[in-house]
Amino acid sequence: MNTLQLGLGTAAIGRPLYINIQNKEREPFDLENFKSKGIAVLEIAYKKGIRYYDTAPGYGLAEQLLLDWVKTKNDPMIEVATKWGYVYTANFDPSATIHEVKDHSLEQLIKQWEVSKELLPNLTTLQIHSATFDTGVLENEAVLQKLAQIKSDYDIRIGITTSGDNQVDVLKKAMEINIDNQPLFDVFQVTYNILEQSLSSILDILKEKGSRIIIKEGLANGRLLPNTNFPHYQKMYGLLEQLATKYRVGIDAVALRFCMQTTEPFMILSGAGDTHQLQENWKVNDFKLSDEELKQLQFFGVKSTDYWSERKQLEWN
Ligand SMILES: NC(=O)c1ccc[n+]([C@@H]2O[C@H](COP(=O)([O-])OP(=O)(O)OC[C@H]3O[C@@H](n4cnc5c(N)ncnc54)[C@H](OP(=O)(O)O)[C@@H]3O)[C@@H](O)[C@H]2O)c1
Repeated sequence: MNTLQLGLGTAAIGRPLYINIQNKEREPFDLENFKSKGIAVLEIAYKKGIRYYDTAPGYGLAEQLLLDWVKTKNDPMIEVATKWGYVYTANFDPSATIHEVKDHSLEQLIKQWEVSKELLPNLTTLQIHSATFDTGVLENEAVLQKLAQIKSDYDIRIGITTSGDNQVDVLKKAMEINIDNQPLFDVFQVTYNILEQSLSSILDILKEKGSRIIIKEGLANGRLLPNTNFPHYQKMYGLLEQLATKYRVGIDAVALRFCMQTTEPFMILSGAGDTHQLQENWKVNDFKLSDEELKQLQFFGVKSTDYWSERKQLEWN
């Protein structure tokens, strides 16, 4: 069984607030304590064998934390993927109402690259953070040319991340973009999980092109873990609990395993916010779901529009 498909996403360790489905009480925010907890997650991930780390400047201190940490490791096998396009604005203030601002301009790309390139040589991937049609980023010739220049000057991969009910259309558009007769994008970080399976319709085409597929939000930001706020998922929770008991793992591992087996991606991102969650997520490597079980889980997929309208209502706390 391949045990190297789990990477670590750093959204949950970079900011005091993030999507928090379980409405857990948060401790009063202490920056130094928060950083140490983040480092502990990076360390445990490394000890488990994780060598792929996804970050973004929009994730508060995550990118800097990762930079400081990766230098201490001095390990060329560690791959870092970062993004540009969101600016973190909350300044670690738990009462902030605006956490991040989207900016897909050339100026922001140039400015952000000056910071993110410090991650070299571990930096292997630069992604447009949440590429959408509304910012026009996939039609912005100056931005695309700049990305192509970074790709060739620094020998890294260029990718997009997608969110939203039209993510398949965005992927199709991105796949068509060539610069100097070469596809610009070779990495596609896509939301996929038991509820949101729209990626399936384009998976083979993406794979045929040899692209790297990275799965994010494999737990639907935590919605796949039993929660009384989502009574419409009770049947799904029942099956997940049954499978978790059968394989002696948590529901998180079952849900991530579903992603692994149905898409066989280059990587699935764990969104663990602490060491316990990371160790539980890692159990994805301990078992295999049967074809029948995969089919039963597939049945719980919902319409993309429904998925994303529920996603929009999730609060940061
Ligand atoms: N647009 C983008 O580019 C974009 C968007 C989203 C994510 N991402 C990337 O993808 C990564 C993963 O995304 P995500 O964090 O939304 O993924 P996710 O795996 O769908 O959700 C992670 C959340 O699930 C809960 N969880 C995980 N393991 C658990 C366990 N064992 N027990 C209980 N709860 C558990 C935690 O929620 P609690 O905090 O409630 O404990 C955690 O924050 C991010 O870190 C980021 O790198 C990119």
